[in-house]
Amino acid sequence: MCWNKSLFAKAFGWLVLLLVLNPGLGVGLAGQPTNTGLDGHLVALPAPDTRGTLPLETTLSKRRSIRRYQDSALTLPEISQLLWAAQGITSKRGFRTAPSAGALYPLELYVAAGQVEGLGVGIFQYLPQKHALQSIETGDQRAALARAALGQQPVKLAPAVFIFAAVPGRTAAKYGRRSLRYVLQEVGHAAQNLCLQAVALELGSVAIGAFSDEDVARILKLKDDEIPLYLVPVGRVK
Ligand SMILES: Cc1cc2nc3c(=O)[nH]c(=O)nc-3n(C[C@H](O)[C@H](O)[C@H](O)COP(=O)(O)O)c2cc1C
Repeated sequence: MCWNKSLFAKAFGWLVLLLVLNPGLGVGLAGQPTNTGLDGHLVALPAPDTRGTLPLETTLSKRRSIRRYQDSALTLPEISQLLWAAQGITSKRGFRTAPSAGALYPLELYVAAGQVEGLGVGIFQYLPQKHALQSIETGDQRAALARAALGQQPVKLAPAVFIFAAVPGRTAAKYGRRSLRYVLQEVGHAAQNLCLQAVALELGSVAIGAFSDEDVARILKLKDDEIPLYLVPVGRVK
């Protein structure tokens, strides 16, 4: 009995230590992410809608690059749906809405939130496995991102800007020199998913490729092995 008690105390001690070192772990253990918004904590996202209402053909025929948005906030369910469309997990094996060479998933997805109901202002990283957002940086980074994108106003004025980045090494480990092609093909799949989802939500978006890699990487605090690939501002159509 005594042995059991000391074992329990030890296990409890390890659990506390683990949670102190990695607060995000609380998500898995408690079942529900801590919805504290900022400070490196996780923001739980509403479950995605996997049925929708707009037929694919209508969505395709309505897709256009939209660069002017209403001065109106997006909602957390809309952000959740857009993230899921781009990189959400859709199978028990961890496969996603967009294909990935060797299922190695080199893409990382961020959102610079400026006006989103239920979400703080700042930069967040999407965690597909948890369908949650992790705070990376507080404060409105849209103007800085717009400057990095050669002053493009949609980046500054959209309520939210999605940023696709990639860690090419994940794919290169298996595919070597062919991996760069694969990573670029993958971001096309994922970004198109997001743009089509925007149409289905009656939102506007534009895929932006013209920006300073160094400046976007600095604003997003990307690691040395990670490269920015696309900025996608999203807002309500004017
Ligand atoms: C790789 C790529 C990079 C792009 N970069 C920009 C950009 O930096 N700024 C912008 O306003 N639009 C950008 N676009 C959007 C194109 O200008 C747009 O797709 C094109 O004018 C056709 O219009 P549509 O998308 O409405 O069919 C880019 C599109 C692609 C595919």
